[in-house]
Amino acid sequence: MKIAILGGTGNIGKGFALRWSYKHEVTIGSRDDEKAKASAAEYNEILKKYGSNDIIEGTDNKTAATNADVVFLAIRYENIPSVIDLITPILDKQIIVSVVVPIARDRCYIHPDSSTLKIDVSDEDYNANYFCYTTPKAGSAAQEIAMLLPQGTELVSAFHNVPAHTLAELDAELDYDIGVCGNSTHSKKIIFDLTRDIPYLRPLDVGPLETSGMVEALTPLVINIASRNKLKDLGIKFV
Ligand SMILES: NC(=O)c1ccc[n+]([C@@H]2O[C@H](COP(=O)([O-])OP(=O)(O)OC[C@H]3O[C@@H](n4cnc5c(N)ncnc54)[C@H](OP(=O)(O)O)[C@@H]3O)[C@@H](O)[C@H]2O)c1
Repeated sequence: MKIAILGGTGNIGKGFALRWSYKHEVTIGSRDDEKAKASAAEYNEILKKYGSNDIIEGTDNKTAATNADVVFLAIRYENIPSVIDLITPILDKQIIVSVVVPIARDRCYIHPDSSTLKIDVSDEDYNANYFCYTTPKAGSAAQEIAMLLPQGTELVSAFHNVPAHTLAELDAELDYDIGVCGNSTHSKKIIFDLTRDIPYLRPLDVGPLETSGMVEALTPLVINIASRNKLKDLGIKFV
């Protein structure tokens, strides 16, 4: 399978590229062709230590998406519109996968005019250092992406809660569950198979695309618990 990872020069893109390069043709995309090539060379150096040679390619986002079966949007929420604009003219039968989590830091839900929700920031027990899910108007990042993509494009939402650092650490056992949301059984099955290609990851069907917000919102929860309790590489596992 040909996999394009747009924003593949970033934290989560690196892990996806390294993990799938064993079984698939992986191309990482970037706004800058040279940057993509440099990152691909860096990833291939890592793979060499594991006995494989020059298998990840790098190019600009549009070219990467053009030649792919599956296109991962490994970009931040605020960069969605420009990247979708860029790839829309070349979309054909590609399956698009969103891993995007809209996230912000500190006191996101306290309305400035609210009298009941005001917290006395002088209270020394109150530590405002936390992340929260910033719900997009459409309900989730995935639903917003669906509205921007041409009608009929197959879109899956997954991999929101897997930590980038552990994903890129090829010796690490990824004992996590991956919630998969989408409206097409066909494209969900392909993402299930790609998930199983990464040892230990377990794909779980969450529901249609409308359920994506619930899975996306778990990510700031995981980050907050990890940072406040000094727990490394936390993810989600249903037992
Ligand atoms: N980090 C994690 O542990 C993790 C886990 C699960 C899901 N996610 C989600 O994955 C997505 C990427 O996260 P990340 O941590 O990998 O982010 P990141 O490293 O900050 O960024 C990813 C890539 O986005 C590209 N980019 C930057 N500005 C851009 C712009 N204006 N337009 C288009 N592309 C731009 C950059 O690539 P170029 O400069 O090469 O274009 C960058 O390498 C986010 O939505 C995040 O919520 C992250």
